This record gives sequence, C-alpha cells and structure tokens, in this order.
Amino acid sequence: MSKKVVLVTGANSGIGLALCERLLTHSDQIHLCLACRNMQRAEAARTALHTSHPGADISLLKVDIGSLQSVLEASKEIKQRYKKVDYLYLNAGIMPNPQISLKAFVTGLFSRKVISMFATGEGLLTQQDRVTADGLQEVFVTNVFGHFIMIRELEPLLCQPGNTSQLIWTSSSNARSSAFRLDDYQHTQGVEPYSSSKYASDLLSVALNRHYNKQGLYSSVICPGLVMTNLTYGILPSFFWTLIMPIMWLIRIFTNTFTLTAYNGAEALFWLFNQKPESLDPRAKYHSYTSGLGNGYTKPQKMDLDEDTAETFYEKLLELEGRVRDKHRAQEDRR
Ligand SMILES: NC(=O)c1ccc[n+]([C@@H]2O[C@H](COP(=O)([O-])OP(=O)(O)OC[C@H]3O[C@@H](n4cnc5c(N)ncnc54)[C@H](OP(=O)(O)O)[C@@H]3O)[C@@H](O)[C@H]2O)c1
Repeated sequence: MSKKVVLVTGANSGIGLALCERLLTHSDQIHLCLACRNMQRAEAARTALHTSHPGADISLLKVDIGSLQSVLEASKEIKQRYKKVDYLYLNAGIMPNPQISLKAFVTGLFSRKVISMFATGEGLLTQQDRVTADGLQEVFVTNVFGHFIMIRELEPLLCQPGNTSQLIWTSSSNARSSAFRLDDYQHTQGVEPYSSSKYASDLLSVALNRHYNKQGLYSSVICPGLVMTNLTYGILPSFFWTLIMPIMWLIRIFTNTFTLTAYNGAEALFWLFNQKPESLDPRAKYHSYTSGLGNGYTKPQKMDLDEDTAETFYEKLLELEGRVRDKHRAQEDRR
C-alpha cells in the first residue's frame, strides 16, 4: 500500500503543527509535507515532529501563499516530487494588525454575548490590510486566492482516476456573510478582511465540490474554535491574555467552542482525515469542540450561504486567475 501524501500549509506552528503531530501519532503510512514560507521555522517544526515521531516521513516545501510566483514555483516542485496528493490542508492564514474595540470588548464582557464575542470576534475585531506585489489584498490572497491557485495547479495530482482526494480548509466561525460582498470580494473597502476571507473560503469550498466531485476531489471547511496560537496572541498584548486566561479556562467548562489548545483546535482537521469524503456534507462546516472535561469532538453545522453566490464567486475567481496569470506572464516575458 502506497503512503498517503498529506500537504499542510502553515504547518510550522499552531493548529497546523498540532495537526501534523496528530496525524503522525495516528498513522505511519503517511508522507507529510510541511508547506511553509519560512524554512528555519519549517525545519524547527520538522525537528520537533521527529523528536516525538522518530523516523517519520516528513519533507519541507517553501511556499509563500501570498505570492503568486512562490505558489507557482512550489506547485511545480510538488508536481516533480509526487504523483498524487491525497490530502491538501489549506491552513495557512493571517489576521494582520488586529485592532480591538475596547468599548465593544468591555460592553461585551458584561453582556450575555460574552462567549460568542470571544468565539467569533463579532463586532470586536478589525484589521488593517495591505496590497501585495501582485496588486492583490494580502488577507484575501493568503487566506483564499493563493490556496485556490495552488489547487488549480495541482489539479492533475488531486484528480487521479480511481483515487479520492480531500481539500480541507481551516475556516472560522468569524466567517460572516455581512462582512463579504461579491462586488468587493477582496474586501478593499471594509475593515474586516479576515471575516470576509473566511466567508470566501466557505463559498469556494461549496463551489469546488460542485466542480470537482465528479473527478474524485472533495472539499470541506472546519472551524477550530478559539485556540491560543500566534494568531490569537497578536490580537491582545500578551500580559492581557495572561490576565484573562483563568477566566478563559473557566468559560471552557461551560462552552464547547473554547478549544484553547492547538491539539483540540485541530480536532476537526484530524477527524476529516478519517472520513469517507463522499459521505460528507458539502454545505456543512465541521467544528472542533471541547467538552467541559477537555475532550475534543467534531460536529457539523450548516453554513449560512447559497449555491448561486458560491458559483458567482467561483466564476469571479476564475476571471481573476486569468488576469493575474496574464500579468505574471507579461512580467516574465519582460525579464
Ligand atoms: N487560533 C484561532 O483561534 C483560529 C480560529 C479560527 C480560525 N483560525 C485559522 O487557523 C489557521 C491557522 O492559524 P493558527 O491559529 O494556528 O495561527 P498561527 O500559529 O499563526 O499559524 C498560521 C500559519 O500560517 C502561516 N502563514 C501565514 N502567512 C503565510 C504565507 N503567506 N505563506 C505561507 N504560510 C503562511 C504561518 O507561518 P509563519 O509562522 O511563517 O507566520 C503559520 O504557520 C489560520 O487559517 C487561521 O485563520 C484560527
């Protein structure tokens, strides 16, 4: 039996790294490819994984998902290395310069919405986006479009006759339709690019199922819950987190969305690894939950979206892909 090829973007820290740990504990019949932008951090992650799993089959791949050139080069490298990709975890993500509304935070802290405020960041969080060298919004490219280009590039490896493959997106419960607009899907005008990008990944997953299921490729989205990682530590000063951490652990006893540890946050990503993709609901988001006793479990929840919007968004992404590729080719020709 040939090993399953599992590629994880953003594998060097947080939820991605915890997923890798869990996969290696579960099976020695996998080849794990850590797709990261920083090779020092990637190497450190591999060393940590080898410490707990000596002899594990792990390779590194350099990719900056926010750069078209880098995604194209990395995809070429993957096609040279592998004949197929069984699992593609689209996990890398950013929430740059998060600003918290202190007023909303204090009001929320003493309201009945306190748990959902922490769990989704609704009404609380804004971010400052920027434009990349490719002329695209950075949050949109990193969280959605770079991954989309990678999927398109890897189509021959993901759509192998007689083999099913899975795309698994780390989305969020912060994905809200109110933050997303089809006529501004990169979120150039708003202040919630993160929420918009996560909603966009949900829409894209639904559309990908429609277009690729017949070729044996299935897409799912998950929400890891609230997890303490570099991403969340960027939201508030670290002393503040230390201060409220006892409250967070207390809340966790009463709410299942406070997964808190990266291990528990990776629950749904890991659960999906063991599912028959044909049996999954393309309109469900799979949530990592943690019980009051600290045990992880996965539960699906129907997503708030419609297929027509998903399809229109997909067409817009194809158009953008065409434009970006043309521009890139023209730049290459000039060199
Ligand atoms: N933590 C939460 O509560 C939470 C909740 C909902 C959803 N999520 C999602 O979970 C996913 C993982 O985040 P995390 O919480 O585990 O945070 P994290 O520890 O910061 O992990 C993010 C990973 O993405 C990588 N990454 C960022 N930009 C990249 C780029 N341009 N190219 C390649 N890799 C890039 C980071 O690499 P570097 O180390 O080089 O920066 C890192 O490995 C993200 O998609 C996030 O949106 C997290």
